[in-house]
Amino acid sequence: MKFLSASPGTGFAIVAAAMLSGQALQAADAPTYSKDVAPILNRSCVSCHRPGEIAPMSLLSYETVRPWSKALKRKVVSREMPPWFAEKEHSVKFRNDMSLSEAEIDIIARWVDAGAPKGNDADLPPAPKYVDGWSHPKGIEPDYIIPMPVAYQIPAEGEVPNISFYVKSPFSEDKFFEAAEMRPGNRAVVHHAGAYARTLPAGTQFDAAGRIVRQANAAGGRARSEQQAVEEDRDITFGVARLVSFSPGRGFEYYRVGAGKKLATDKYIDIGMHYQPIGKPQTDQTRLGLWFQRVPMTHEVVQIGIYDSQIVEGAELVATGDSMRKPAIPNIPPYAGNWSITGIWPVKEDATLLSIEPHMHFRGKDVEYKLIYPDGREQPLMKQSKYEHGWQINHELAEPLKMPAGSKVVAYGHYDNSLNNRFNPAPHQEVFWSEQSWDEMYHPYIEITYDNRDLTKTQTTQQQQQQ
Ligand code: HEC
Repeated sequence: MKFLSASPGTGFAIVAAAMLSGQALQAADAPTYSKDVAPILNRSCVSCHRPGEIAPMSLLSYETVRPWSKALKRKVVSREMPPWFAEKEHSVKFRNDMSLSEAEIDIIARWVDAGAPKGNDADLPPAPKYVDGWSHPKGIEPDYIIPMPVAYQIPAEGEVPNISFYVKSPFSEDKFFEAAEMRPGNRAVVHHAGAYARTLPAGTQFDAAGRIVRQANAAGGRARSEQQAVEEDRDITFGVARLVSFSPGRGFEYYRVGAGKKLATDKYIDIGMHYQPIGKPQTDQTRLGLWFQRVPMTHEVVQIGIYDSQIVEGAELVATGDSMRKPAIPNIPPYAGNWSITGIWPVKEDATLLSIEPHMHFRGKDVEYKLIYPDGREQPLMKQSKYEHGWQINHELAEPLKMPAGSKVVAYGHYDNSLNNRFNPAPHQEVFWSEQSWDEMYHPYIEITYDNRDLTKTQTTQQQQQQ
């Protein structure tokens, strides 16, 4: 193209000569960035690959994409990018499935092989819109932003326990959200984070940072370590509901029309932060963005953790309620290569499944969810033969799935504490259960609505009672 405009005569001759060779014909119908590649990147990559996001480079324009073309081909052909690990043949369809089809992978590979041509600007798809980094797909700013009460100082080194910063609901009525996003103030140190709606006992006192003030001789006169204090404070809180989580690759969630996450007016928002020191002192002030529901709510979205009772190695664990109580799990023995847990959630009243989110750490090996109907029929829900602890993905069903009372959601998990697991920091040691990544967790979550708990009807009953 360049030489064509510089010297039309010679350029024409070269193009005409090239037309005769097969290579040029192939190049002529090779995919171009503008027409074929940009739409794929916009759909599956730029949510992370844009300025201010977690990925190392922006894939928003030809100029920023071109130098990375070879790496692009390598990462999509190996299916390392985009990060999506649920196996289609053993899973339902997910609306946030950003994985590429064989055809799309082929387009990127052929484009790179053809020298990554730009193509015609007129073919470019409209640029995706983002507001000041917030991720709402329509480019809408949050209706309300709740920052952490202070900018928190993270030390250069050491282990920082998970910290909860509490903010009282600023709303004078119960609020439902259409979408929520957690945005770290300093991505270098925020390992992961979560915002929860919690009930705290009356009279709970806070310091200026919104941390619970620990009274002398709390917890029966024992001196409490920071970590113990955090865990005990978690235990005294109840009625917990997760609003939204941040981990690499996620932080924005949006719900269905008519179904939303609820923040009751008397709740506290627990901004739970897990920091990772990076060798230099840092500060962070993470923010929570909330988009209110604009239509009347019929159903509250509820998170269920399928893990709240005794479990033993290889045995089945039946979760009895919606609670987030800590399970009593035996430790994983040294070198155990295929240590299993099965979590079972009996569906006691008609419910609808909205999303699936497994959570394990470095030893997480694989995970699989199934729905077993009352008549014994099995419906595969989600399978990851290679659990990737670095990517905590919430798999949002494309079509909400009805789960009649009498069904069971079963979540099978395996752990690899052997030398074969290259992420394993200490195969010779027993693995304990805690929120730190070098310990383990088994938190197979789902999000549901209860079909017969219609909020519009509940409201009517309450109003009737008031009259
Ligand atoms: C959920 C967030 C996310 C999405 C979506 C995503 N990436 Fe990435 N990507 C990352 C992060 C984080 C890294 C750096 C860490 C790593 O390599 O795992 C990365 C690294 C890469 C690299 C390697 C860069 C290097 O330093 O060598 C390439 C190439 C890449 N991505 C291409 C893509 C392409 C192409 C897509 C879409 C088809 C995509 N990514 C989608 C988050 C994402």
